[in-house]
Amino acid sequence: MNNLFEPFSIKNIEIRNRFIRSATYDGFADNSYVSDGQIKLFSDLAEGGVGLIITGIAYVHHTGQVSPFQNSIAGDEFISGFKKLINIVHERGAKIAIQLFHGGREAKYVKTKNALPLAPSFIEKDPYYKGAYRDMTDDEIWEVIHAFGDGAKRAKEAGFDAIQVHGAHAYLLSQFLSPYTNRRKDQWGGNLQNRLRLHYEIYKDIRKKVGENYPVFIKIGVEDGFRGGLEFIEGKQSAKLLANLGFDCLEISQGLRGERYKGTEFRANINCLDKEAYYLNWCREIKSQIDIPIMMVGGLRTLSLMKEIVQNGEADLVSLCRPLICEPDLINNWKTNEQKKAKCISCNKCVDLIYKGRPINCIQTTKK
Ligand SMILES: Cc1cc2nc3c(=O)[nH]c(=O)nc-3n(C[C@H](O)[C@H](O)[C@H](O)COP(=O)(O)O)c2cc1C
Repeated sequence: MNNLFEPFSIKNIEIRNRFIRSATYDGFADNSYVSDGQIKLFSDLAEGGVGLIITGIAYVHHTGQVSPFQNSIAGDEFISGFKKLINIVHERGAKIAIQLFHGGREAKYVKTKNALPLAPSFIEKDPYYKGAYRDMTDDEIWEVIHAFGDGAKRAKEAGFDAIQVHGAHAYLLSQFLSPYTNRRKDQWGGNLQNRLRLHYEIYKDIRKKVGENYPVFIKIGVEDGFRGGLEFIEGKQSAKLLANLGFDCLEISQGLRGERYKGTEFRANINCLDKEAYYLNWCREIKSQIDIPIMMVGGLRTLSLMKEIVQNGEADLVSLCRPLICEPDLINNWKTNEQKKAKCISCNKCVDLIYKGRPINCIQTTKK
């Protein structure tokens, strides 16, 4: 029987249980370096029983930065801060992976003067994104690919147990995969194979730089939030192709945001069992067709439901974000009281804070 509280191995890492802290941008970085606030946050999470913590988005290239309070792995100077963070987590028995990221057209902190954010294609009069940006050249695409590989190499040197490539939500890899945002006529656009070429080349560059035994994961958006975007049939096919390519674990999420299923990967008001596990159908279908471990994320709140999901073979690992912002010690609490309800009410006030440029916090824990 698959037990959530028993160890689970992926490649050469053994995670003490099947609970993952899903990648969470925390708005705490200090000029792109690890800050004391992050040391405290990660220490609490590791102390609180999570098996594997995935950091928030860490940009691999300066053109991919979306926030001034975001971490970077775009240079060797960032390695020592991460070493400190990793040690704190390891001392408390958890594992830690870094999420490698490029924001594509959503990058707002392009440091070169007058430079525009980069995207596969510029879409005129796009109802889903209003900012200014431009098409990438072939050379720029290769520069970003190598930046992912270099970021992975630094992550390994820092001591991260694994890396996760961010291939979901509204960012660069999703922008390439979506037929809506990728209108290119060259080898990077058109059919699915071409729209996935960026993912392939990033994987190959990473693998070349970290070796065969290092765990390389991807969070993959398998459907966009609007018609005309990526449909699940292609998203599922992409997941299979990436598993065959060599990724060691997939976390299943959505692609570009939009009005379908209320648009975002963090749905609000998860207040009954029916609203939980909102990517369950995608996970089940993908899991039935591939052999590598699958992480389920999205509205997981009730322990008995998570147990059922893993026991039914619909996912191997359960990944949580908002409930752990609210209660970093939730996993230890569940260990002693399986009936305990997660306090998170998915009000998304934590999301409002990060959009205002403030660090994450939870009103459930700060209100008197
Ligand atoms: C405050 C906040 C920050 C997030 N930051 C990231 C991130 O850096 N990378 C990522 O892939 N997803 C990010 N997400 C999405 C979560 O990882 C997760 O996919 C989503 O919130 C659904 O899970 P949940 O219902 O457990 O919150 C973030 C979500 C929230 C609420």
